Amino acid sequence: MTIQERTDHYLIPFYKRTPVTITRGKGCYVWDEKGQRYLDMTAGIAVVNLGHNHPSVVRALKTQASKIWHISNLFYQEPQATLAQALVERSFDGMVFFANSGAEANDGALKIARLWGNKQGKNKVIALQQSFHGRTIATISLTGQDKYKQGFDPLLGEIAFVAPGDIHTLREKWDHSVCAIFLEVIQCEGGVRALSPEFLQEIFSLAREKNSLIIIDEIQTGMGRTGTLFGYQHFGIEPDIITLAKGLGNGFPIGAIVVKRAIAQTMPVGMHASTFGGNFLACRVASEVLHTLTPTFLENVQKTSHWFHEKLVSLQRHFPELVLDVRVYGLMIGIDLTPSLPVTEVIDALRHKGILALRAGENTLRLAPPLIIGKKEITFFIQVFSHILEEKKRGQNV
Ligand SMILES: Cc1ncc(COP(=O)(O)O)c(C=O)c1O
Repeated sequence: MTIQERTDHYLIPFYKRTPVTITRGKGCYVWDEKGQRYLDMTAGIAVVNLGHNHPSVVRALKTQASKIWHISNLFYQEPQATLAQALVERSFDGMVFFANSGAEANDGALKIARLWGNKQGKNKVIALQQSFHGRTIATISLTGQDKYKQGFDPLLGEIAFVAPGDIHTLREKWDHSVCAIFLEVIQCEGGVRALSPEFLQEIFSLAREKNSLIIIDEIQTGMGRTGTLFGYQHFGIEPDIITLAKGLGNGFPIGAIVVKRAIAQTMPVGMHASTFGGNFLACRVASEVLHTLTPTFLENVQKTSHWFHEKLVSLQRHFPELVLDVRVYGLMIGIDLTPSLPVTEVIDALRHKGILALRAGENTLRLAPPLIIGKKEITFFIQVFSHILEEKKRGQNV
């Protein structure tokens, strides 16, 4: 049997896989088993922000791997302390808990909010429609999209949903029993859409008024993806809790929760834990990732984003009947396509021409390339994408 046949035979069919078997990667490119090269505009779904096989990250992993991998959180170890300090120094005065994935970080953040809130008779949580927070029972309960929740009842209770931008309902649902609101400043899976600054301001004033926590899910928007280290830093706001994963390990599994010090200090010993959370390997790798995401690196992401945006806007002007909207937040990009041009067809057509891309929302082409992408790669993408749009315009199959 081929690799694909064995995969389909032995793995639970939860994933709809693209018929490509990837064997290696370098920078913005990956190669399949036949040696075909692809420009990776997915970065493993906004994970491999520094590019595949990044030399200093690989070096950090190898060096640590030859020393020690695991000891448990019953002991002290240096890489955890170093990474926690670096995260706090680049976010806000807080304390950190390490997990292994995004969903696990969000689940832990919810537990922290409930532990904090229950003492004051608060257990309700507000979450947003079109949000995405993970696939565990707790995190699908927080997710505002039915397609991820159907069939899993009963879900967690006391979660109220509000549409992004709907200030009226937000005020209506936000009473003194709310312990926390969960949000993404840019909803990525939900279609690549930023919350409006007015809506965020309202969230911050209601949180102050009702004494509730603001939890920002930075799992996809964090680690430089939007041109600042964390997405919330664009908005001049400071949350109580942020959750991280994806780009934090550049592909090595790690999640983290950063919690404001005053709240973190009230957490009792023994109320939350993770066997693998904060292991030597993950922390060493993530420290190297953070170290690489310097202010100069992030400025460069913003410059690249600006350039890419200009190219996409002129493409949209060229094909207004096919490209309905272009949203660019750093290197998280959403391109809405007309319904007669299904995004799945475009993704297939791009792949046949050597480019891997993602989808989001209803019919949105989502691009989340490694942040090191350059003009050469962007120009190639624009050429190929224009060609696909041109063929569609001429009435040919893409
Ligand atoms: C915003 C957001 N939160 C949470 C998650 C879940 O992360 P993980 O798949 O690591 O559990 C994701 C994953 O796509 C995400 O985009």
